[in-house]
Amino acid sequence: MRMVDIIEKKRNGHELSKAEIEFFVEGLTDGTIPDYQASAFLMAVYFQDMSDKERADLTLAMVHSGDVIDLSDIEGIKVDKHSTGGVGDTTTLVLAPLVAALDIPFAKMSGRGLGHTGGTIDKLEAFEGFHVELTDTEFTEMVNRDKISVIGQSGNLTPADKKLYALRDVTATVSSIPLIASSIMSKKIAAGADAIVLDVKTGAGAFMKTEKEAAELASAMVRIGNLVGRNTMAIISDMSQPLGNAIGNSLEVQEAIDTLHGNGPADLTELVLTLGSQMVVLSGKTDSLATAREMLKGVIKDGSALVKFKQFIKNQGGNPEWVDDPKLLPQANFEIEVVSDSDGFVSEIVADNIGVAAMKLGAGRETKEDEIDLAVGLILRKKVGDPVKKGDSLVTIFANQQDVEDVVAMIKENIRIGLDVQESKLIYREIHN
Ligand code: URA
Ligand code: CA
Repeated sequence: MRMVDIIEKKRNGHELSKAEIEFFVEGLTDGTIPDYQASAFLMAVYFQDMSDKERADLTLAMVHSGDVIDLSDIEGIKVDKHSTGGVGDTTTLVLAPLVAALDIPFAKMSGRGLGHTGGTIDKLEAFEGFHVELTDTEFTEMVNRDKISVIGQSGNLTPADKKLYALRDVTATVSSIPLIASSIMSKKIAAGADAIVLDVKTGAGAFMKTEKEAAELASAMVRIGNLVGRNTMAIISDMSQPLGNAIGNSLEVQEAIDTLHGNGPADLTELVLTLGSQMVVLSGKTDSLATAREMLKGVIKDGSALVKFKQFIKNQGGNPEWVDDPKLLPQANFEIEVVSDSDGFVSEIVADNIGVAAMKLGAGRETKEDEIDLAVGLILRKKVGDPVKKGDSLVTIFANQQDVEDVVAMIKENIRIGLDVQESKLIYREIHN
């Protein structure tokens, strides 16, 4: 087989065989196919697209380019949740103990945040001593015993995807549905879950800015998942404004604890219940979404989800007493209010730019090497649709420096006040194929 023939076949719009796709991915991984041929291939895919079968073959070839996590020693149906990334998205911290409290194994491999989006591991590290460097045996034992554990990303997961992503970044081929879908799904499938609930975000803070694009990506990922034997569905949810009120690591942990107490922000609570009930259904505990929702509400109400969260923190080296007394979590030295200059209604809170404002305080990383400050961040005092009066606080800044003028300016620019009430929407639709 020759790479030049594979490029030509794709360039001319024909469907590639499984063997041809495997030849490409193997050659890319072992370095026998040079970057210039891989780049030409990517551009051909960008213009000619891929069939569902090609997408599934590409995904599986990338899965097998590196380590594949074996969760078969964990009892029960392992359901994973994946979000395409957002601002202030604290759902995993809440979903994990909720699902585990229903005896559904939550065995998640997670990552750190970059840019305007936060990462679950960073947030959990607000608990001093909490760590995700577990051996496979520790991970398996924790999940079998307590149904919950989060492990850090393995070093050699989908190396083909890493190479391809780096090439896509410099060849203007990132925004291709078959390439995005296979990239995301390869990592999810390599992480070993039996079933996958995808939370595909849409809006200013999301990768997919419009609902139509988000639905197209969601559908592509769902079809790949189901074609390779993982029961997969997707929810399209809003990321035009940040989720919940807190943005920043310690602050989001506190928000997650509030939500586990039943006192969380309405949007975060609703998204958790929506995604969670899909997870419960995929786990086989019930086939009714309404029943699943009641089960989840039940473990919030009776406190068992909170007990589960404490167990989880303790198992991985944190102090569970901090869950009862969140003031023990890292706290910022200064609180600065950003107030409204006018009367009206909040019409827009531009999620990605608000995420960047939090990053500038130190809550997130600009580059992979940056250190983050777990204590700092933002609390939104108003959400889209809320009435405001001149002088009302829009946001509280939690900072470890007093000079935050640029952050204040950025927040003011990205929270728009209008004269009419704006409807905000959280869940757009469900996608099953
Ligand atoms: N996230 C990924 O993991 N891959 C993509 O291609 C895009 C977003
Ligand atoms: Ca939040």
